[in-house]
Parts: sequence; structure tokens; C-alpha cells
Amino acid sequence: MKRRQFIRFGAAVGALSVVKPSQATNIVAQSYQGKAKGPIVLSTWNHGLAANEGAWAVLQKGGSALDAVEKGVMVTEADLTNRSVGVGGRPDRDGHVTLDACIMSGDSRCGSVAFLEGIAHPINVARAVMERTQHVMLVGAGARKFALEQGFATAKMPIDEVKKDYEKWRKENKDLFKKPDINHENHDTIGMIAMDAQGQLAGACTTSGWAYKMHGRVGDSPIIGAGLFVDDEVGAATATGLGEAIVRVAGSHTVVELMRQGYTPFDACKEACMRIVRKHKDLTGLQCGFIALDKEGNYGAYSIYAGFNFALRNNDGEALVDAKFDRNW
Ligand code: GLY
Repeated sequence: MKRRQFIRFGAAVGALSVVKPSQATNIVAQSYQGKAKGPIVLSTWNHGLAANEGAWAVLQKGGSALDAVEKGVMVTEADLTNRSVGVGGRPDRDGHVTLDACIMSGDSRCGSVAFLEGIAHPINVARAVMERTQHVMLVGAGARKFALEQGFATAKMPIDEVKKDYEKWRKENKDLFKKPDINHENHDTIGMIAMDAQGQLAGACTTSGWAYKMHGRVGDSPIIGAGLFVDDEVGAATATGLGEAIVRVAGSHTVVELMRQGYTPFDACKEACMRIVRKHKDLTGLQCGFIALDKEGNYGAYSIYAGFNFALRNNDGEALVDAKFDRNW
């Protein structure tokens, strides 16, 4: 029996340090770019570790990438301690928790929900939009009506603890347009991409969005091509960070199209970030990050600022990896 231990590989400095115990059966140290053999799953932020375990349970049994990413992000959606995804998510400025999610398979099938309230697992509804309707995206009351008709579970949101935080925030905050802090402690979004044993790709993305956003605001996460894009001919990419900036450059689609042109996943993620940098005069707090995987199993990640990490799981074990960033822009 191998020792259960988890190692974080500090890619920028090349230093190894033990950060937490995990369920991993092997230790794997990885850089912000690499190549994997066989099935692999990558997801944004440290909450991706638990999510990857959910996905890996599917992949290691020979299951599909599509089933894996759906099961994987459901772990995060159900985590009541997570303040940026699912049931434990923070509300908008009017006190409503509105959820966004999408799912995409490498054969270009996709489904999405946005501005969805009171449903425990928006990713399941997104998949149902993909598989049970002729549409790609349902929003708001229509998405909720569809979810209820399809028998998906409801959940009361915000949960009590989050409601208390919201009431405090409401009293204290005059600046309603304050940009969110996006770092590994206060992350937004789980984006997950995977390749199964058959070489098929899929991705899923789910979030409660920018905390205390305007009522009605939708970010990048449920937008196919912005928060997520997958094409079996090329690869998959997903995004995290300030959704408005990611939408402006159709971020995940940009990453996949750059890989189609021959960029490595890492270089493609970097170029998408640089495009965001070039399009914005004010870069204060403008954190965005991408992770990408090509159909050969090469992967990479890049973010505008320090602080973005991603979780990786494959046959060798699991890792939490710091994305590369440069400040020379
Ligand atoms: N990236 C998630 C959002 O902006 O809503």
C-alpha cells in the first residue's frame, strides 16, 4: 500500500512542498505544462482536487469523459463550503443566488443554463438541455421550469451562513461595482476538461458567478466558447476569472483555435491571456486563467496574475499545480 500523500509542485520556483493529505494513491509532481498518457482530468483551482476524484472514479472504470466531467463538477456544486460554485455560492446584490453552467462533448454537442435559481446541480440541467432539447442554452425562469419538469432536485439558496455574509456586505458596501478578488482562496468557477481511455474529450464549467453582481448578470462560464470549448479534432479549454474579460475574447474558443494552428496548450493559454491584457486599459484585479488539453494528452495553464492553480489527475496520481504567469506585459 503506497503512502497517502500529496505534493504540490511549485512550477514557477521548482520547489516541492507537502501541502495537504489527499486520497491519492500515488504522488505526482507536475509542471504548468506536460504530457499525460491515457485518461486525464484537469480542473481549475484547489477545489478541483475533490472534483477530479469524482471524475476519476468514472474514467478509471473506462467511463466516458462526458460522464466524468459531469460527475466531477457535481462534487463542487454540492460542497456547502464553496462560495463560488453551486448551493453554497454567494448571491447577487439583490440576494439571489443565480447559477451558470455548461457542458460540452468533443463531438460538438453542448448544453448550458444561466441565471438559474434554486436548483442543486445546474450541470445536470445543462446536460439535459444538450440531450433532451433541440436547444443549447436555457436561462432564468425558463431554465428553472425545464429543470423542475425534468425532475431535478431543488435547493434553498443562499444557505444561512451565506445569507448572513450578504446582509453584512449590504450594510458595509457602498461601492457596488467593486471587482471581485480572484485567487486560490477566493476562487470563482470550476472548469473541468477530460480525456477518456478512448481519446474522447469533454468539459464542464459551473459557477455562482461574481459575488454581489448585478441581478441578471451572466459571466463567461455558461457561454460555449467563452468559459468552455471542446473539439475532439483539437483539444479542450476552460476558463476562470473575470467573466466579462473572458467573454470579450471568446477565451476558451480562442485557446482551442490557437491549438488548431499549432500552439501548445500552454502557449495557447498564454496568448489568450495576452489578448485579454491587450484589450483592457485597466488591468487592476483583472485575473483570468485558462487550462487546456490537446488530443495527444499535452496540457498547460496560464494566468494573468499569480495565484491561479489547477488540479490534475491521471494514471500516475494527482497534483495541484501553480499556473505560470508573467508580469512583463
Ligand atoms: N468566471 C466566472 C464568472 O465571471 O462568472
